[in-house]
Amino acid sequence: MTDNILDAFKENHDNKEIDVSKKIKIGIIGTGWIADAHIDAYKSMEDVEVVALADLVDGKAEAFAKKHGLENARIYLSDEELLAGEKELDGVSICTYNCQHAPCAIHALEAGVNVMLEKPFTVTLDEAVEVMRAEKKSGKILTIGFQPRMSENMQMIKKIVESGELGKIYYLQAGGGRRRGIPTPFGTSFIAKETGGIGAMGDIGCYSLDMLLGAIGYPKPLTCTGYTSDFFGKDPSYYPGHPEYAEKFGVDDFAAAFVRLEGGIILDFRISWAMNMDTAGDALILGTKGGLRIPSTECWNGEFDKPMTVYKTVGGKDIEYKVPYEPCGDLFKKKIRSFVDSIKENGKPTVPSSEIIYNQAIIDGIVRSAKLGREIEVEIPEI
Ligand SMILES: NC(=O)c1ccc[n+]([C@@H]2O[C@H](COP(=O)([O-])OP(=O)(O)OC[C@H]3O[C@@H](n4cnc5c(N)ncnc54)[C@H](O)[C@@H]3O)[C@@H](O)[C@H]2O)c1
Repeated sequence: MTDNILDAFKENHDNKEIDVSKKIKIGIIGTGWIADAHIDAYKSMEDVEVVALADLVDGKAEAFAKKHGLENARIYLSDEELLAGEKELDGVSICTYNCQHAPCAIHALEAGVNVMLEKPFTVTLDEAVEVMRAEKKSGKILTIGFQPRMSENMQMIKKIVESGELGKIYYLQAGGGRRRGIPTPFGTSFIAKETGGIGAMGDIGCYSLDMLLGAIGYPKPLTCTGYTSDFFGKDPSYYPGHPEYAEKFGVDDFAAAFVRLEGGIILDFRISWAMNMDTAGDALILGTKGGLRIPSTECWNGEFDKPMTVYKTVGGKDIEYKVPYEPCGDLFKKKIRSFVDSIKENGKPTVPSSEIIYNQAIIDGIVRSAKLGREIEVEIPEI
């Protein structure tokens, strides 16, 4: 690997000067579990003021305000109320469960407010298309909350691919997945059809897709053969003391797919919240001149924690080398900072919908193909 690729790790990305003369006004829509991480990040920024909070559950946003010392924030009972009541907002974080991503994002963009939308983009491809139409009309920022994008290790995957070290990429294997990891400790919003909409695919599969597709420039998906199952989620014995979760479970706990991408590239995808295996494997990128192995982690959440390995043949010898792993600090805070910087500086999203629409199209394709029991063509409507 050339020195300038390894030198990329030596750049310092953390000591930028911040202009605190104007405070960016932020609203939070949905004050559940992940909103805590958004607030912690915003509160650490001297140039940000969280002015409004909304949650559908009466009293929840008040309690959240109290917990975070935001007694001055105005409280609302829905995204629409908040957007109608706040005329000077610079941005909102949408922290609702998946099924409310599309309506909340559309309402915010129509109100002329910049949006940080938690992942997954939406539940269906049609919803993502509608959000993008609202984005286009509004001219506002829409960025999707994939914090692993802020990891220098993750960015290194893209740099390795772009360096040409691997040659032409022709095969991707999405790895990861959990042995036992249905996220029920946080209530049922992840597992109920009417709130989560999609399960392991929307929770962690979207990260897995982003890791690989982001690295190779998000080629368009063409066809998809998908499979989904719910054997663990629907089994009351999975949840000792909480058999009612099995009743509530209405999404996928495992998915696999074979996806053809533009440019003759194959994606072999699998993701799991629960399975009788320690891991669904490492993530792999195969190219004509080299291969890259990205190690699987125990609790897959879109990041990795060990060095990657490059495989090559040099001078007739098969060789392997490790890519040094770098600790990257607080990725969540970096994601929120990048949203605030986009508002202040350039109006450009860090994780644009024009890329993540393909991520969503694959998840949507898997759902449709699994239902039909056959391969489907992936068609993305004009935005
Ligand atoms: N980036 C990450 O690391 C990460 C981690 C966890 C969850 N998430 C994502 O964050 C989202 C939320 O997850 P969570 O665990 O916080 O869910 P949660 O169920 O704990 O909280 C969601 C909250 O949104 C509220 N809500 C729903 N629709 C609303 C609306 N229209 N207006 C106002 N409030 C509304 C609900 O009442 C609920 O309190 C999910 O999409 C999830 O995928 C991201």
